Amino acid sequence: VKRIGVLTSGGDAPGMNAAIRSVVRASMHMGIECLGIRRGFNGLITGDITSMDFVQTSGLIGRGGTVLYTARSEEFKTDEGRKKAANTCKLFGLEGIVGIGGDGTYRGLLEFSNQEGVAVVGVPGTIDNDIACTEYTIGYDTACNTALEAIDRLKDTMQSHERCSVVEVMGRHAGHLALYVGVACGATAVLIPEKKIDFERDVVEPIRAARLAGRTHFMVIVAEGVGSSYDVAAKIKEYTGLDPRVTVLGHVQRGGSPSARDRMEATYMGYNAVELLAQGKTNRVVAMQKGAYVDYDINEALAMKKGIDERVYTVLRALIGAEDKLNI
Ligand code: F6P
Repeated sequence: VKRIGVLTSGGDAPGMNAAIRSVVRASMHMGIECLGIRRGFNGLITGDITSMDFVQTSGLIGRGGTVLYTARSEEFKTDEGRKKAANTCKLFGLEGIVGIGGDGTYRGLLEFSNQEGVAVVGVPGTIDNDIACTEYTIGYDTACNTALEAIDRLKDTMQSHERCSVVEVMGRHAGHLALYVGVACGATAVLIPEKKIDFERDVVEPIRAARLAGRTHFMVIVAEGVGSSYDVAAKIKEYTGLDPRVTVLGHVQRGGSPSARDRMEATYMGYNAVELLAQGKTNRVVAMQKGAYVDYDINEALAMKKGIDERVYTVLRALIGAEDKLNI
């Protein structure tokens, strides 16, 4: 393998730049040239490609966002779009692609390699941590810490005003981010899409138990996959008479300098991806299982299922303590 390309696709995540840096520098170390493909798969279609070297990747390890830009490409989902992308690969002499992103990115890589024969490797990058084949995705730790910092600030003002706060956390259809952040901030209640919600049991009773224990401010975390946090707030008002304030954390959670963990994971996973291409492998994704770095066939990876960490949920429920206090 003489020349490969690296791209970021889907929602950006802190640590994507660190992964780009690692892919470029690992390639140089292995005697491979690595080009940067801008704007996700769209750049592969239009030939929006730039050279990358040691100097261009200098300072990237701590930078948020992605310097290669990102996109969700509709055209790449078509045969015609992928044909154009294959021509770009021929023109630039690209023999392999490292795609940093989520399941959608992996699906795009797989179709491309099946149809056009270009070698591909995926690297998991999303704040949602919702990729089934891996227990960790680049950006998750930073997003958890960013959300937590915002919630800690909210708690100060909620405490002063003796209020209830409803905070909506990202995660698309998954509740990993909300659950983790909910545990870490000591929330009164946490609503995630993986668990069927009984409003009395999951929200009203924990608030009541906390009030009975002497607490006068309450933090309710809602995963975006559950539905509107404004509806949750309205229901809290109806059931308890409290007048909650809603905060949707939104894209703030996607920005910022990556944490130490995200820099490390991005660096390792980027290196591993290039190593796979250098070994002549294709259709692989790098992943983490039981704390160790592994890789899977993309088909196998896409067929896997991932639930929330049940143990974390059990601990959350235990520490909220509503069951014990209200004897339910
Ligand atoms: O996948 C990352 C994510 O931030 C999700 O948590 C969220 O649902 C979605 O992307 C938002 O997408 P957009 O940036 O297109 O609004």
